[in-house]
Amino acid sequence: MSIFKQIKGFVFDLDGVITDTARLHTKAWHEIADQVGTPWSHELADKLRGIGREESLDIILRAGGKQDAYTDAEKTQLATAKNEHYQRLISTLTPQDILPGIPEFLHDLHEHEYLMSIASASRNAPAVLERLGLTQYFPKIVDPNCLHTGKPNPEIFIKGAAILGLEPRQCIGVEDAAAGVQAIDAAGEISVGIGDKDVLRGATIVFPTTSTLTLANISGRLKEAA
Ligand code: G6P
Ligand code: MG
Repeated sequence: MSIFKQIKGFVFDLDGVITDTARLHTKAWHEIADQVGTPWSHELADKLRGIGREESLDIILRAGGKQDAYTDAEKTQLATAKNEHYQRLISTLTPQDILPGIPEFLHDLHEHEYLMSIASASRNAPAVLERLGLTQYFPKIVDPNCLHTGKPNPEIFIKGAAILGLEPRQCIGVEDAAAGVQAIDAAGEISVGIGDKDVLRGATIVFPTTSTLTLANISGRLKEAA
């Protein structure tokens, strides 16, 4: 039996997979990095992908040698400022901001009766899906407030399968972040990476962009990879 036959569900990351909000998180964090005096770099931006709000701030402070420079209350203020900026940025999202190929892909998955869930660390995920007009596809979203550990820990992807009533081996996880691909792999799901194959080295298969993300292409690439 081919690997694809056992697949019953897809567990999606949101930011950078469904829509380009990874860019908006990056923009808001860049401003905080400037404020605390941490030099910005692409490497730092990549390290923050898929990582929760408080942990992201800690990474930025550590990168600038400022890990002991702020009280907990000040750190909460910085994280809140980042979130307020991010929420202003997402307030103008529309269905036009869904990444290329994703509307057709979601439609196709729905038609073929695959189950779908969202495994995003973002507490803003429901608001983003609402603005994109995609809530009908995703009645099942992992609540990041219930998680003990963030990506690369597999917990979020295991929950993403469980809320669909599926085992991880019945699911494909889709991610743009290295930490997310590691989480999918550790969960025992097939990992589909979106982005740079050198950054997403652990992924079962990688597509450079979402525009070629189709069931036929995934099935074909999985057969090649097997
Ligand atoms: C996702 C994004 C991260 C973000 C995290 C928390 O994982 O990829 O960039 O830091 O969610 O998002 P939130 O909207 O709750 O601050
Ligand atoms: Mg992402």
